[in-house]
Amino acid sequence: MPVLSVIGAQWGDEGKGKILDLIASKADVVVRYQGGANAGHTVVVGQEKFVFNLLPSGILHPGKKNVIANGMVLDAAQLLTEIDGFQKRGIDLGGRLFVSAAAHLVFPYHKAIDRASEGVKGGTRIGTTGRGIGPCYADKIARVGLRVGDLYDEARFAARLEANVREKNTLLKALYGAEPLDFAAMLAEFRAYAVRLEPYVADTFHLLRDCLDAGQYVFIEGAQGMQLDIDFGTYPFVTSSNSSALGITAGTGIAPKRVGEVLGVAKAYTTRVGAGPFPTELPDAEAQLLRERGGEFGAVTGRPRRCGWFDGVAARFAVQVNGVDSLALTKLDTLSGYDKLRVCTGYEIAGHVTDRFPVGVTTLDKVKPRYETLSGWKEDVSGVRRVDDLPAAAREYVDFLEDFLRVRATILSVGPARDQTIFR
Ligand code: IMP
Repeated sequence: MPVLSVIGAQWGDEGKGKILDLIASKADVVVRYQGGANAGHTVVVGQEKFVFNLLPSGILHPGKKNVIANGMVLDAAQLLTEIDGFQKRGIDLGGRLFVSAAAHLVFPYHKAIDRASEGVKGGTRIGTTGRGIGPCYADKIARVGLRVGDLYDEARFAARLEANVREKNTLLKALYGAEPLDFAAMLAEFRAYAVRLEPYVADTFHLLRDCLDAGQYVFIEGAQGMQLDIDFGTYPFVTSSNSSALGITAGTGIAPKRVGEVLGVAKAYTTRVGAGPFPTELPDAEAQLLRERGGEFGAVTGRPRRCGWFDGVAARFAVQVNGVDSLALTKLDTLSGYDKLRVCTGYEIAGHVTDRFPVGVTTLDKVKPRYETLSGWKEDVSGVRRVDDLPAAAREYVDFLEDFLRVRATILSVGPARDQTIFR
């Protein structure tokens, strides 16, 4: 299949960056299609750790093209910081990073509104990353957003930015009592970004089309995860884009019939950062154990992640919505040391038990998970490289998940390094 998509099957942070980096050597192009600097993909190469917010994870592979497609929201300052950071480490992106002229720009007012509105929400707070994602997508849909390509029509850009700053300042002051933002300073800032970004700006629709027509391999990198999808996630505690595979066509322009194979990525347990329902969440003391073992702290915000058992109901829903063909199961090593492991195979809602993830209901926080209990294993599996060398209980755990999800786990990850991987 010329298009392979790597999609998170949970609430994000499944380890997509590592998986994509692992298989990126087979790709000609790696594309991100949604989200923005809210994502934090970590890739470990040897002793070095790389954290990406906006750049696709293919960037570490010389000679691969990397695309920031139209469906993303671009924080120009953040992108330039990332580009500079890679350049300092000897990785040059010239000629292999392509930023869609149709991607929307994130402005300081988007971040200010994101933070201010979260600040006054109290108990209904979403727990966003504060990167301006929701307000930027809101402007896109309201048709007042400014896109990367607009940077190069100076007069029009200045006029539209001025109108936006005026409107947002009114809102910031009236609703949140916040300080107004300075239009002239913002314009100057974005003029400077325009100059620095220009070598990367491209028509990524035609670039991708040409690559596919030439038989090249295009890998699509999802950010966040299925349960944060604006339509099928745990709304309103979601991100503001289609972070499932459903966003690929709109976010890249690749026609639906050309979107081929989907590799789902799921952790061997579940985590979530930010607010919202999480049926299999563990009580604090138990969650802490998993959090410390798994290093479960947000890559963007450093926030401790909420932790819980594998939620089979939510993961099977992710397999269905995304059309997952095969699974990469990550962080299996983190589960070593438990006597018993639990997997959620049903939800009890208002006295009824179902194994179907409820769509469009707001009472997910009232779900009582029904668990299957499986044997744990004591051995450290981080050095295992063949399935047959895994403890029997670990193999049974993987088999159980495969049977329940009705999909094969073709990649098992047992640590952050590239070689800590079992291919099946
Ligand atoms: P936003 O995307 O910053 O608007 O945040 C909305 C929700 O998505 C919050 O619960 C965030 O914690 C969550 N979120 C956004 N990006 C990521 C990610 O890359 N990994 C995990 N959670 C994320």
